[in-house]
Amino acid sequence: MLDLTPRKQDLDPIETASRDEIAALQLQRLKWSLRHAYDKVPFYRQGFEAAGVHPDDLSCLTDLAKFPFTIKSDLRDNYPFGLFAVPKEQVVRVHASSGTTGKPTVVGYTQKDIDTWADVVARSIRASGGRPGDTVHIAYGYGLFTGGLGAHYGAERLGCLTVPVSGGMTERQVTLIEDFKPDVIMVTPSYMLAILDEFHRQGLDPRASSLKVGIFGAEPWTNAMRAEIEQAFNIHAVDIYGLSEVMGPGVANECVETKDGLHIWEDHFYPEVIDPESGQVLPDGELGELVFTSLTKEALPIIRYRTRDLTRLLPGTARSMRRMEKVTGRSDDMIILRGVNVFPTQIEEQILKCDGLAPHYQILLTKRGRMDGMTIQVEASPSAAGAQAREASATELAGHVKGVVGVTAKVEVAEPGGVERSLGKAVRVIDQRG
Ligand code: DLL
Repeated sequence: MLDLTPRKQDLDPIETASRDEIAALQLQRLKWSLRHAYDKVPFYRQGFEAAGVHPDDLSCLTDLAKFPFTIKSDLRDNYPFGLFAVPKEQVVRVHASSGTTGKPTVVGYTQKDIDTWADVVARSIRASGGRPGDTVHIAYGYGLFTGGLGAHYGAERLGCLTVPVSGGMTERQVTLIEDFKPDVIMVTPSYMLAILDEFHRQGLDPRASSLKVGIFGAEPWTNAMRAEIEQAFNIHAVDIYGLSEVMGPGVANECVETKDGLHIWEDHFYPEVIDPESGQVLPDGELGELVFTSLTKEALPIIRYRTRDLTRLLPGTARSMRRMEKVTGRSDDMIILRGVNVFPTQIEEQILKCDGLAPHYQILLTKRGRMDGMTIQVEASPSAAGAQAREASATELAGHVKGVVGVTAKVEVAEPGGVERSLGKAVRVIDQRG
């Protein structure tokens, strides 16, 4: 694969600043952000008062631990615009995420917020190996979801020819890749697999496409999946992370030269990792729930937002800013099966070990009497599609899942194409336990 390491002179100076410089900037911005939230948003003022804290109580970064958390239902309870810190006339954009239950959560941006967002996404694309002048194919959904438009403004900001394809119409995705010859694709990893199928269906060699880099996020995916996609397309597969409440895509991104976890753009988003049970801040290196505080956001300052994503903070490598380990899963997605905790990504890893299986899967949870059951629905790779081969793959996967993950699961291996494809975020778990 090509060496796409960016030149140091092309980076933002803060990307390679000393830790002291970063911390000084964070402290100054954090004071502003707490004050802004307290002064402009009744929800924050009341929350701080109830917790007996005031923005002036913050004199060092670790003082942030004194302030209360914000959770997703706080946004819902203040639906639609109750947490905005600026008059509506200054809000130039809203996005919303549907979630699984109830009202959507709505987020807003001033023009300056949109600019900051474009900057961090441009930085993310550059870290991934993209350059001004590249063509970027965007297959994240456009609309209320932050993926499409977030990626779009960032690609334009970097100076790329930006192709706003959005998700879906998979046949056309491949036609446009063949005809426009993009260097970079931005899409969910699960939808990239559907695009891969379509290359094969059209009799095209995916390794011969113009693509050099894929920037994949919006859902958990494993290093095993990275290897699979890199091999299939002969591209660098790089991880991008973000969430609408904090901004959208571009809160953190891997560097193409190291691919060792995602550098959090700490000049705009202050991370903490907490024990999800006690709420205590954990030292760097320990696994827990990721929490973010915005440092520069105007329209929707967000203080100590509990993401429910599980990861750990690690020191910087290719950049000075700290990394977060690839997200193993959300606490919401954790399956508790007969007392064992299982994440869909653990199943994904085992599937990718089996040569006879393609990496398309769903996990079905059922209840018979008082017993929980797990069925892994996966499909055969085209070269192992016969009944006997599928049976052998099922036995092999069940063995890996039992041996490595520690749960007994039923495995159903469908014929190629037998598992539903996602056009955006994949639905991995179907819980029918009631
Ligand atoms: O998914 C923003 C985004 C768009 C990120 C495009 C990357 C690319 P939400 O719809 O608000 O925003 O969902 C946020 O998705 O809390 C994680 O659980 C999950 N997620 C996002 N990126 C990753 C990733 C967008 N790289 C939620 N790895 C987050 C694992 C991810 N999970």
